Amino acid sequence: MSDHSVRAAIVGTGFMASVHAEALRRIGVPVLGVVGSSPERGSAQTSALGLPSPYPAYRDLLADDRVDVVHVCSPNHLHHEHALGALQAGKHVVCEKPLAMTSEEAADLCDVAHSSGLVNAVCFIQRFYPQCQEARRRVRSGETGNVRFITGTYLQDWLSEETDWNWRLNPRLGGTLRAVGDIGSHWLDLAGFITGNRIESVIADLAIAIPTRLRPVGPSGAATFSAAVDGPVERTPIDTEDIAGILIRFDDGSRGVLTLSQVSPGRKNHLSLELSGSKASLRWCAEDPEKLWIGHRDQPNQILLRGAVPGTPAAGNYPAGHVQGYPDAFKAMYRAVYRAVAAGGPPPAPDYPTFHDGLEQAVIADAIAASAQDATWTTIDRAKMAPSYGKSFDTAADRSCTAMNQPAAAAPSRLRHGERGRRSSASQDGS
Ligand SMILES: NC(=O)c1ccc[n+]([C@@H]2O[C@H](COP(=O)([O-])OP(=O)(O)OC[C@H]3O[C@@H](n4cnc5c(N)ncnc54)[C@H](O)[C@@H]3O)[C@@H](O)[C@H]2O)c1
Repeated sequence: MSDHSVRAAIVGTGFMASVHAEALRRIGVPVLGVVGSSPERGSAQTSALGLPSPYPAYRDLLADDRVDVVHVCSPNHLHHEHALGALQAGKHVVCEKPLAMTSEEAADLCDVAHSSGLVNAVCFIQRFYPQCQEARRRVRSGETGNVRFITGTYLQDWLSEETDWNWRLNPRLGGTLRAVGDIGSHWLDLAGFITGNRIESVIADLAIAIPTRLRPVGPSGAATFSAAVDGPVERTPIDTEDIAGILIRFDDGSRGVLTLSQVSPGRKNHLSLELSGSKASLRWCAEDPEKLWIGHRDQPNQILLRGAVPGTPAAGNYPAGHVQGYPDAFKAMYRAVYRAVAAGGPPPAPDYPTFHDGLEQAVIADAIAASAQDATWTTIDRAKMAPSYGKSFDTAADRSCTAMNQPAAAAPSRLRHGERGRRSSASQDGS
């Protein structure tokens, strides 16, 4: 399959469908169509995006032999069905997060994807901001020293009024964890990507700030990030968290603290991550993505602007000063994914987040839910993760550091405090 013969289609017609369609166009992949919850929704989106006619139903999309890759941008409860259908139809899959509603569903998708030999990706998109890749390079090269502490937040305000409604508030559609699954998974994936450390155990406090909300009694409520809709409403009890505080123990002995909220006025998409190493600290925020703060003990702190160091990941795609952001991260991720698609299947160590990484977040979510329920530290149970996938979190991350760091630079090996056997066995696997 050559690059330019690859074609995509999208299931879903909302916020993410638009983002995916735009990024695909920017890398030259034709989008043959979308399918929505109804032919009318599909038609509205195809005319807004200037796409060909929508597919009448998902089965029609799957039956279209011209489609090589399906992008799953439907609500969470449909991810398993849509991704499974695409894999069974022999299509590569790019699935939005969370990969599935439960870790059982996520493990099932992992198994099917693995045995199919098809490309499978999950949109943990923060990995593709140049400054996140630069942070990872600095940690992996030893420039920051041993990682001791990782703190951060993911705060939003688009659900801060009782009139705000979205399908995510219904646990049957969004999942039993909301803030954790919707936004926390991005932060947790990023922390693992930058440090290479895996979460060993967690204790979480989950809280509902708005116990009842005014649910529109209409088709589907407000679209993501949009204001409340006019019309009849029904007061509806809420049973998923608006707020979360999570303490984390990583497998190298380092600690983390994550705070999450979808009810913080003024915070639109405030993902921030700060890492304290034994030699230096790093801080990055998604709302100011061109800057990486570098903290020092004995010299002035620095702010690294993207593009400042030619040949490093921080150089990014566009020349310095031509601000890169959220849409560019999707473009960068799809370049990696579509390299694998063009090659006919995933490389041994993918340089993009895979279904395995989606499953990793699902088992972490299980532990977060259990720890909140029992008010106790809970160990991540990775028994659902097939042995054949066991090290791909590390190997994928290690390779992606090298692959993204063009021209490829060998990352110096180093010993870190609390380093475990799994790292050395990972490198024996060729990672
Ligand atoms: N990676 C990211 O940065 C990011 C950001 C936002 C959302 N997401 C994820 O993207 C997914 C979609 O979220 P969104 O914000 O676009 O939601 P949205 O509500 O804007 O869009 C969902 C779309 O799915 C459509 N849909 C519903 N039922 C369907 C069906 N049976 N068949 C086909 N389409 C159907 C709806 O009509 C709607 O257009 C979610 O899983 C969400 O977690 C990811």
